[in-house]
Amino acid sequence: MKKMKYVIGVDLGTSGTKTVLFDEKGNIIADSYAEYPLYRPKNGWAEQDPCDWWKAAVKTIRAVIKESGVNSEDICSLGISGQMHGLVMLDRENRVLRNSIIWCDQRTQEECADIEKAVGKNRLIEITANPALTGFTASKILWVRKHEPDIYKKCAHILLPKDYVRLKLTGVYATDVSDASGMQLLDIAKRKWSNEVLLKLSIDKTLLADVFESQEITGYVSKEAASVTGLSEKTAVVAGAGDNAAAAVGTGTVCDGDAFTTIGTSGVVYIHTDKMKLDKKGRVHTFCCAVPDKWHVMGVTQAAGLSLKWFKDEFCSDLEKNAREENKNVYAFLDEKAELSGVGANRLIYLPYLMGERTPHLDPDARGVFFGLNTVHNRYDMVRAVMEGVGFSLLDCLSVFDEMGIKPNKMLACGGGGTSRLWRQILSDMFKTEISASKSKEAPALGAAILAMVGAKLYPSVEKACECIIGTGETAVPYKENSLKYERLYRIYKKLYISLKDDFKELS
Ligand code: XUL
Repeated sequence: MKKMKYVIGVDLGTSGTKTVLFDEKGNIIADSYAEYPLYRPKNGWAEQDPCDWWKAAVKTIRAVIKESGVNSEDICSLGISGQMHGLVMLDRENRVLRNSIIWCDQRTQEECADIEKAVGKNRLIEITANPALTGFTASKILWVRKHEPDIYKKCAHILLPKDYVRLKLTGVYATDVSDASGMQLLDIAKRKWSNEVLLKLSIDKTLLADVFESQEITGYVSKEAASVTGLSEKTAVVAGAGDNAAAAVGTGTVCDGDAFTTIGTSGVVYIHTDKMKLDKKGRVHTFCCAVPDKWHVMGVTQAAGLSLKWFKDEFCSDLEKNAREENKNVYAFLDEKAELSGVGANRLIYLPYLMGERTPHLDPDARGVFFGLNTVHNRYDMVRAVMEGVGFSLLDCLSVFDEMGIKPNKMLACGGGGTSRLWRQILSDMFKTEISASKSKEAPALGAAILAMVGAKLYPSVEKACECIIGTGETAVPYKENSLKYERLYRIYKKLYISLKDDFKELS
């Protein structure tokens, strides 16, 4: 009998790292999670220590090998998925020069203006398929150069979060096309660093890692890494993907028009496209995806699950006890209560801009808003309004895709929020499309593992691997009556941002 092969998917997230050991059929054999802190040294700043990421990777890799009892020689490959855009700067000896400035940091508004001036607003969109964004890596590089010139002088390598972990595992400076897309230095159509952008921004190309397609092998586990992680030196490490492109593979979103929505800390709508398509106004992202020579469009709401977590922590912490008494998770408890509030949360509308907003507004000054409060409202209406507000913000992005002629032909929901039946129903009613729960609870880790399987030639292509491995769960079907109600509320929702835009700026 053929011996079973195993692969590992490491998902380096914002709250922690999840590592999962799968067999070659995609069954979870063991998983492990390790958290790390997020530092907020100033309002709008967000940093993490890359050493914490490596420690979490080591701890969780060791744990899955131990828990599974699998012989490390049978783990043929490993893939990493990671939070995108974070800036890791290393000196010549690979020492970390400063904490990583991560994706949700908003400090680089001035540098974004500098980038648009240097490259030209339209030219930047033509090449990088996106306007200059505070979340993306290029503006973070320029910020360090301007504000911390001594650190910049010592910088010999610039990496993305998951690629730092790869370096520690293999000694190789490499990245993949999907994650590199979020640096704003890649020519998205050609899937190569853009010499023009690098030249105009005076960034030396030798600082950057080599770019690979996601399923390509970038190196093998080094002797040193093998001794600390328990992995074998024979284990190949594939390029992997940014977390959303990895989640796409992990949900089987790999054919033209396939789509998914993630509600994690941030919220995402993602559609796979066989041809590269970009919004000339730069309101949504176009990135390379983890399938060779394919792309995706994506919209991101900064505070999706984060909005609900914030509301729960600040206004519902007493309910944790009630939920426990009913043997429920507090989110499931809140779901039940919010369902009773009904479509439209009793005419309460929430704008989820707690962390500014990415697409389509690209406005770091935007703020969260509850609109329409009345004495009839209780906190469960507010919970429902939060869930609906996140839905509306994602609908904003879908409307832009629609203008670009891109329509989802099927949609999956994943992330913590995707496990909520109520949230899936709200999205289905708003998007007027069926939404199925993703069967895989660990989509980015599974996606990274599938890329590793393809790299190790266990499957001939990413598409084929997904076809064999991925299944879907329960499906929400849109109710016409609800959709009509949401249509009317959405019209108000859209107008609110326009009316408040200048006031947000003044307040900031
Ligand atoms: C994508 C984005 C987030 C991060 C963190 O553009 O900023 O999805 O990757 O998860």
